[in-house]
Amino acid sequence: MAVQLDRVRRVFNNTHVVIAGMDLRIDTGEFLAVLGPSGCGKSTLLRMIAQLAEPDSGQIRTEPDGERFQTAFVFQDAHLLPWRDVLDNAALPLELMGESKARRDEKARAALDQVGLHDALDRYPAQLSGGMRMRVSLARALVTEPRLLLLDEPFAALDEITRFHLDVQLRELWQRRGMTVIFVTHSVSEAAFLANRAVVLARSGGAIKLDRILELPAVRNNELRGDPRLGQEMRLLLGAIEE
Ligand SMILES: Nc1ncnc2c1ncn2[C@@H]1O[C@H](COP(=O)(O)OP(=O)(O)O)[C@@H](O)[C@H]1O
Ligand SMILES: [Mg+2]
Repeated sequence: MAVQLDRVRRVFNNTHVVIAGMDLRIDTGEFLAVLGPSGCGKSTLLRMIAQLAEPDSGQIRTEPDGERFQTAFVFQDAHLLPWRDVLDNAALPLELMGESKARRDEKARAALDQVGLHDALDRYPAQLSGGMRMRVSLARALVTEPRLLLLDEPFAALDEITRFHLDVQLRELWQRRGMTVIFVTHSVSEAAFLANRAVVLARSGGAIKLDRILELPAVRNNELRGDPRLGQEMRLLLGAIEE
């Protein structure tokens, strides 16, 4: 088990029940997509899993082995520091952890290599495209070798071609690293393409309308985009959203 939610409830302003009592278990190594319309509580849920916010009642447990457990969070905006170059942006979490310059440069280089940014190390954020900035953000999340990676609509602001590339890259990273991934999106096609399991949330109250293991091949590449099996999964997810 990586994450377990028991009867989790979150209310804003005493009256606005965003999540009314959610039970959800996410196993180690899963790639879970959390899908639902804007405002349904996806970010609220993810922030609680990241322990950036607390539920009003109920319980969220993350992997029992507290010491080795590590979480990284990727937001829709890359949140890079404009006065730092790519290498120093990616190395930031290690700096905060007190690692030596040599160690953190080595690890940041390796992470940037994995997202295809090895030849942009000394560029500054203003000199990067939106897709490259998001790659730096991903690399920065990966430098600490998290076992749980939480992503909140990370590619939503990018153009479709860039998003397609990043989808494939993220899948490969997940396969290589064996981490648990929770990916929040409002895109049916992105959820189906990326995930092994998808959870669809109701428009209000955070009820789980569908919890499904996707019947798709393990290797996801752009050929799959036109595959009828992907279309079938998308129809099922969309049906649950519109129900
Ligand atoms: N800090 C907050 N205070 C009050 N209301 C909030 C707060 N955060 C989120 N909400 C409300 O909770 C609902 C769910 O928000 P959110 O989790 O951001 O949805 P999603 O990420 O699915 O778009 C929305 O109606 C939003 O306005
Ligand atoms: Mg959100």
